[in-house]
Amino acid sequence: MAKMWAGRTAGEVDRIADDFNSSIGFDSRMYRQDIRGSMAHAAMLGAQRIISEREAETLIAGLEEILSDLESGKLEIDLSCEDIHMFVEQELTARLGDVGKKLHTARSRNDQVALDMRMYLRDETDSVIEKIRALIGALLAQAKEGREVIMPGYTHLQRAQPITFAHHLLAYAMMLLRDADRFADTKKRMNVSPIGSCALAGTTYDTDRWFEAKQLGFADVCRNSIDGVSDRDFCVEFLSSAATLMMHLSRFSEELILWSSWEFKFVELSDAYTTGSSIMPQKKNPDMAELIRGKTGRVYGDLMALLTTLKGLPLAYNKDMQEDKESVFDAVDTVKMCLDVMIPMIAGMKPLPENMKAAAQKGFINATDLADYLVKKGLPFRSAYKISGQIVALCIAQGEVLETLPLEIYRTYSELFDDDLYADIDLWTCVKKRISEGGASPESVDAQISFVEEKLKNG
Ligand code: ARG
Repeated sequence: MAKMWAGRTAGEVDRIADDFNSSIGFDSRMYRQDIRGSMAHAAMLGAQRIISEREAETLIAGLEEILSDLESGKLEIDLSCEDIHMFVEQELTARLGDVGKKLHTARSRNDQVALDMRMYLRDETDSVIEKIRALIGALLAQAKEGREVIMPGYTHLQRAQPITFAHHLLAYAMMLLRDADRFADTKKRMNVSPIGSCALAGTTYDTDRWFEAKQLGFADVCRNSIDGVSDRDFCVEFLSSAATLMMHLSRFSEELILWSSWEFKFVELSDAYTTGSSIMPQKKNPDMAELIRGKTGRVYGDLMALLTTLKGLPLAYNKDMQEDKESVFDAVDTVKMCLDVMIPMIAGMKPLPENMKAAAQKGFINATDLADYLVKKGLPFRSAYKISGQIVALCIAQGEVLETLPLEIYRTYSELFDDDLYADIDLWTCVKKRISEGGASPESVDAQISFVEEKLKNG
């Protein structure tokens, strides 16, 4: 069939080249945005008397019909069209005749595709934010249960200081709050309408760009028509927010994988989010967490792919930019899928407090508190640190722990040691004493819970 864009050219395009050029296989997912954008465009053309009001109404009714036929399955997308924009226009003209051919007045596929992408990604950004918030909700519920569950906090993956399970989980809640904020911020710059930029230079028709922008819920219009059709920085920002989110999900997944191992056994993931092995009957593998960690790589790849595609492009539109879609769509799908799996996996995760406590009791994680005890009694911190280190070395050599090492031995290191020492190095006391803002104490953790709750309530 002759191409809708066959103006100057007459010869047929090679079939393989045609497939290569076509984007309908993936951009058809934007059909709603494309049709809604066209409806606003038709309304603007009518309101500005560029076409008659009647014609505008006919176009809008035709577009509405196409939308409902697509939704109901009565109409199928014709994959022989080059892209979704061509398909809708071709279908409209098939249904309405010559009036259909008026839709593309004062418009180009260049501003049309920029518009569709912004509308599509705006919707998807909202959906991602909603899912992040649901995940924060699941973390919050677990944190509330874990307020008094002692576990070792780590640095260098070595047991470091006692914290609570709640404190640890809330760290992720804070990261995810920032992720949601990042997406919301990205949306601000995305929510600017490019339509009316036309091919690149604007148009000779008396259009009203604000009319269309308002109809489609945009907060602003792109102020330079060349910029409007040339840039995909809003896609880059989305992908960068997605990459950061995935980085957080991946770190969390890594911990879930460690925590589910026999070496840690801090949590038990529900059967619904693990798999068995085809050969080892004892196995319960955290595949979902591993896949989230694994899929992080592809989202990073999506970001790098688009940045690389854009880096050498002269202004304005170039066909290279069609490549934005698969990167963005892949990231949207991946991020949403990962969140959909993560939310119930966290909600159903069973903490094993006894094991966390047992791990906390080994590893001298109260050694800092032992030093702090001496500081409280008047010793400078560096001297106290040194003595504590020597005592830890002694315990290791003798298979002892700080909690039960006899006072006489303590006193051979410093006269400042007294009976009250044991209460001070009790693990729960160590946690309770971490009263600094954001620290491990139950009061501080409660304040963190309230902070997250408040953020979830008020956005
Ligand atoms: N399918 C194209 C894309 O995704 C639409 C824009 C085509 N514009 C053009 N001048 N060929 O970028």
